[in-house]
Parts: sequence; structure tokens; C-alpha cells
Amino acid sequence: MKIIYFSQTGNTEKMANLILEGVQSEAKQAELVEVSAASLDDIKNEEILILGCSAYGSEELDESEMEPFVKSLEGNIQGKKVALFGSWGWGNGEWMTEWEKRMESYGAILISEGLTVQESPEGEDEERCIDFGKLIAK
Ligand SMILES: Cc1cc2nc3c(=O)[nH]c(=O)nc-3n(C[C@H](O)[C@H](O)[C@H](O)COP(=O)(O)O)c2cc1C
Repeated sequence: MKIIYFSQTGNTEKMANLILEGVQSEAKQAELVEVSAASLDDIKNEEILILGCSAYGSEELDESEMEPFVKSLEGNIQGKKVALFGSWGWGNGEWMTEWEKRMESYGAILISEGLTVQESPEGEDEERCIDFGKLIAK
């Protein structure tokens, strides 16, 4: 299992670490990879892919690193199980619903609805991230 993410100010990165904690609490292992260091080789042998990106632009993925990586998944993730997550600030979550639709159009199977947290995950939101990791690992 790989958790590939983009995070500019650390909020989605904190989510990634909490999701990893949830995965590990189910006695499974996952590797955290910043998207700037990720390539298609990272997903080749993975059945499950966990992708994180915060909302940027105007309800979009980060255009410098995450967008090109996600585009490269087209034709390469049919039948793989995918879970999406990310932090947002002031929008309506459209970036996540669009991202979900896009992954399904690429033939991925979404494990659950994307997990979204406003800004930094604290308190209950930390628990939501850990539970998301557990759900993916089960
Ligand atoms: C240039 C810029 C554009 C943003 N665009 C959106 C947006 O369209 N919708 C939204 O909900 N939040 C938007 N945000 C807020 C970020 O998604 C939010 O601060 C998030 O927690 C950042 O997470 P990160 O630290 O993981 O990158 C934007 C922030 C910046 C700096």
C-alpha cells in the first residue's frame, strides 16, 4: 500500500500520517511518498492506492505536481482500489467530488467516499483520519 500525497502547508501531510497510523493499527503497512518523488513505478505492484491532495486553484488539484501525476494514472489504474483524501479551506468540496469522478472514469474502484478535513486535522478530525486508515486496511 502506498500513500502518495501533495501538501503545501502540511495539513494533508498530517492527514497522511494519521491515515498511516490507522493502517498500522490493523497490522498492515503502507509507505508515505510525496508526489514530487512518486512515479508510475510506485503504483505498478500495488492493489490499493491512497492519494491525498488539498484543494487549490479554484476547486482543483495542485497543478504543479499532483495534477500531472493524477493525469499519468489514466490507463494505469483500472481495477485498482483507490482511496482519496485532502484538506480544504473555504470551498464546497467540489475538488474532491470531481477527483472521485475522474478516478472512476479511469477505471479505479473507490474504497469509500473521499475523506476531507478543513485545514489542519484536530480532535475529532484526527480520529476520522485514523478510522479512514483502518477502513482501507480491513
Ligand atoms: C492559492 C490557494 C488556493 C486555494 N484554493 C482553495 C479552493 O479552491 N478551495 C478550498 O476549499 N480551499 C482552497 N485553499 C485552501 C487550502 O486547500 C487549505 O488551506 C488546505 O488546508 C491546505 O492544505 P495543505 O497544507 O495540505 O496544502 C487554497 C489555498 C491557497 C493558498
